[in-house]
Amino acid sequence: MPMVPMKQVLDEAEKGGYGVGAFNVNNMEQIQAIMRAAREANSPVIVQASRGALRYSNLIYLKKLMEAAVEENPDLKIVLHLDHGNDLEVVQQAIDLGFTSVMLDGSLEADGKTPRSFESNVDITRRAVELAHPYGVTVEGELGTLGGVEEHVAASVAILTEPEEAVQFIEQTGVDALAVAIGTSHGAYKFKDVPKLAIDRVETIHRLAPHARLVMHGSSSVPQDLVEAVNRYGGAMPNARGVPVEAIQDAITKGIRKINVDTDTRIAATATIRRIYHEDPSVFDPREYLGPAREAIYKVVKARIEAFGSAGHNDDYGPKTLDDMKREYAR
Ligand code: G3H
Ligand code: 13P
Ligand code: ZN
Repeated sequence: MPMVPMKQVLDEAEKGGYGVGAFNVNNMEQIQAIMRAAREANSPVIVQASRGALRYSNLIYLKKLMEAAVEENPDLKIVLHLDHGNDLEVVQQAIDLGFTSVMLDGSLEADGKTPRSFESNVDITRRAVELAHPYGVTVEGELGTLGGVEEHVAASVAILTEPEEAVQFIEQTGVDALAVAIGTSHGAYKFKDVPKLAIDRVETIHRLAPHARLVMHGSSSVPQDLVEAVNRYGGAMPNARGVPVEAIQDAITKGIRKINVDTDTRIAATATIRRIYHEDPSVFDPREYLGPAREAIYKVVKARIEAFGSAGHNDDYGPKTLDDMKREYAR
C-alpha cells in the first residue's frame, strides 16, 4: 500500500488509546532498522526527516529509500513526516517529495532560538495548513518551546504549553496534531537530575481539544547502558539523561499519540560502532560496523514500539489515501 496520512494513524491510535513512535532517519540503515522493528511488531510507524536530514540525503536519496521501504513492506501503515519544518518552502518541498505529513514548527523565530509570538505562530501554521490540506497531507504544529521544567521556573526561554492557548491555536490554525511543551528537550542532556515533566497539561489539553492529536517531542529515554558503553569505549557523554519510558507511558494514558525519538537511535548506533572499533582496531569495512549499528537501532525501536502500545495494531484498519483525506478536508 502507499504511505498513509498521519492523521489516520493518529486518529486510530486515539481510538485504541496507544502511542505511535516517530523515528528520525537520515540513511539506509536507520530506515531498514525501523522497518524491521515495525514489521516484526506488526505496528504502524511514523518515519520522520528533519530539514538537516533532507539536506544530508540530498532529498532524492531519502525519497527513494522510503519508496524501497514501502515496497518491501506492502502491508505496513507507514507515514513519512517532515520534522520541524520552519517555513512554507520546506513544507512544499516535502509535499512534492511525497511526504504524507508535515510539521510547521512556528514556536521559534527563524534563528531557532527566540520564541515566536502566538499571533505569528498562528499565522504561519495556518498558512501551512492551507498549503498542505488540499494535497490531503496532515499538519502538525507546535505551541510552547522545548526545555526543562526547571529552566521554565528559572524563566529562561523554555515555555510550557498553556492549555487555553492550545485550544485557541488549534481552532485558529486547523492543525491535525499539536506538539506540546511539557518539559522535555531535544538531545541527550534533558535533565540536570530527576526528570520532571508537566504531564498533567497533556490531560487538560486532551480534554479541552479532543480532536487534535497530541505530540511529545524530545522523548528519547537515553538508556544508561548505552551511554555507559559510549563512555567505556572512548566517548564522552557525561550526565546524559532522558525521559523514563514509564513517564511516556503515563503521558500516553493522558492523551499523547505521537512520540518523537531520535537521540536514542543515535546513541545505540554510536555505542555499537565505538565498541567494534575498540574490540577490533583492524576493522575498516563499513559493513562490519554499520550492520551491527543497524541491529542496535532495531532493538531500541522495537522496544519503544512495544512500550508505546502500538504493536499488533497495524491491521486494525484499512489504509486511507491522500485523496480520501483531500475529500475529508474539503468537507
Ligand atoms: O528535533 C530534532 C531531531 O532530533 C532532528 O535532529 O536536526 O539534527 O536532524 P537534526
Ligand atoms: P530526542 O532528541 O529526545 O530523540 O527528540 C527527537 C525529536 O523530538 C525529534 O523531533
Ligand atoms: Zn522535535
